Amino acid sequence: MSNAKSQRISIRDLAAMTAKGQKWSMITSYDAVTAQIFDEAGAPVLLVGDSAGNNFLGEENTIPVTLDEMVILSRAVVRGSKSALVVADLPFGTYESSAKKALASATRLFKEAKVQAVKLEGGNKVIPQIKKLIDSGIPVMGHLGLTPQSVHALGGFKVQGRGEGAAAIIKDAKALEKAGVFAIVLELIPAELAQEIADELTIPVIGIGAGVGCDAQVLVWTDLMGITSNPPKFAKAYRDLRNEMSSALKEWMTDVSTGNFPSEAQTFH
Ligand code: KIV
Repeated sequence: MSNAKSQRISIRDLAAMTAKGQKWSMITSYDAVTAQIFDEAGAPVLLVGDSAGNNFLGEENTIPVTLDEMVILSRAVVRGSKSALVVADLPFGTYESSAKKALASATRLFKEAKVQAVKLEGGNKVIPQIKKLIDSGIPVMGHLGLTPQSVHALGGFKVQGRGEGAAAIIKDAKALEKAGVFAIVLELIPAELAQEIADELTIPVIGIGAGVGCDAQVLVWTDLMGITSNPPKFAKAYRDLRNEMSSALKEWMTDVSTGNFPSEAQTFH
C-alpha cells in the first residue's frame, strides 16, 4: 500500500497566486510525452482540452470528441505529470442534458483518468451541472465567450461579447463564480471586457484571446510550439517545431538512403 501524498498544485495554490497578483499559465496536453515535458518545465496546470479534436485526433473541431477518448488522453497526461494540476474537458454531449449525466461523465474522468478537475462550457444553463459536480467533490473550471462546442450556434469562431453581448458574459461569469467554479476561461472576447470581469471576480480568470488583463493565460500547445498550420490570431508561436520536425525527418531519411544511418555509434557487434 502506498501512502504517497499528492505533490500536485491545488486549486487553492492557484487562488493564492491570483490573490497575490501572480499571473500563471495553463497549457494544453493530450499525451504523456508532452505532459512530462511541460510538467518538468513548471507548468502549474495542464489542460486536457477537447481541442485534442482538431489538434491531435485530426477532427475538424472539438464536437466529435468522445468521453472514451478524453479518458484515454487524460489518463496519459496524469501519468506523464507529477506536479501540475490536470484539468480535463467534458466533451460535447456528455453534460448538457442533466446534472446526473454531468456527474456520471466527470466521475469517469475522476476515477479512470484520475484528473483533479474538469472544465465545461457555458453559463447560466449549466449551473445545475456545476453545483452537482462541486457538491460531489469535483472541482470545476468554467468556460465563457467563444465556446467551441457551440461553434455552429455562434456562427463560427468569432469574437464574442462585443456590444450588447458583453452584459450576458458578465452575468454568466458572476453566476459561475457564485456556483463555485474555481476558475473561468474567457475565450475570444474584447480585452476591456475580460479586464472588467477579472477585476470584478475573486476567482482566477484565464484568458485566451482575451487580452493581458486576465489573471492567467492558456494556449494550445501545438500553437505555442509552431506546429499548427493555420493558428488563430490570438496564438503566438514561440518556436517553429513544424519545420524543425520536418527537416529532422528529411535529414534522417537522406542518411538512410545514402547509407549514413546507422553509423558505428548506433551499431552493435
Ligand atoms: O479545449 C481547449 O483546449 C480549451 C482551451 C482553448 C481553453 O478549451
